Amino acid sequence: MKVLSFKNYQSLSDFAATEIANAIKNKPSLVLCLASGDTPKLTVELLVKKIKDQKIDHSAITFIGLDEWVGLPPENTGSCHYFFQSKLIEPLQLKPSQYFLFNALANDLQNECIEMDQVIDQKKGIDIMLVGIGMNGHIGFNEPGSSFNNLSHVIELDEVTKSVGKKYFTEQVELSQGITLGFKHLMNAGKVFLMANGIKKADVIKKTVDGPVTEDFPASIMQKHQNGFVLIDEEAASLLNKTA
Ligand code: PGA
Repeated sequence: MKVLSFKNYQSLSDFAATEIANAIKNKPSLVLCLASGDTPKLTVELLVKKIKDQKIDHSAITFIGLDEWVGLPPENTGSCHYFFQSKLIEPLQLKPSQYFLFNALANDLQNECIEMDQVIDQKKGIDIMLVGIGMNGHIGFNEPGSSFNNLSHVIELDEVTKSVGKKYFTEQVELSQGITLGFKHLMNAGKVFLMANGIKKADVIKKTVDGPVTEDFPASIMQKHQNGFVLIDEEAASLLNKTA
């Protein structure tokens, strides 16, 4: 794992977007997994802009959504589905055969997990995965205590996730479960970017980078990834001993 520190949110987002855009140029059939949320928002916007401005052929990429709130319809503006639909799928006019998102309304959520794992297998794994980090150290909905050996799964949400998650919604919603890719997918991904910005993330970044590797603090798994990068702004880096 490498830690890369940037002056601000704009420059770290631009770095991540440039990396992904270049990866698509080098491998037009790139399998890309992105998180939704506040942190990756600008990266996704910049990536779409770069793809359009540079006329990068994205007709063969595969996009995989990291997670979803169980029970929420895709029209809910706080859903991960809505984020990806409005920020990536529509702007890039991805074909339905090019993107895979968990259906959080499915009667059989286990089957959703099996199907997602099969897609990832069929595509021969994820090339690039870009994730954020929650205030409890979660990645996707791999909550504290989640096994590092998980594939896709359904999980009871941690109290911190339920409380912080309210920020995405304009109305009151009942958040209880999540459906998410697991850490096996993350560890098997060719390259992982974990992004964080702002002073509120300084403590979780400190634990991610300098703390023990433990399932009690999920993001600590990044220390074990051979091609893992923690991308942070100066504020998120402020508690670290040293950064590259
Ligand atoms: P955020 O969410 O990017 O909105 O801070 C991060 C997360 O919970 O994974």
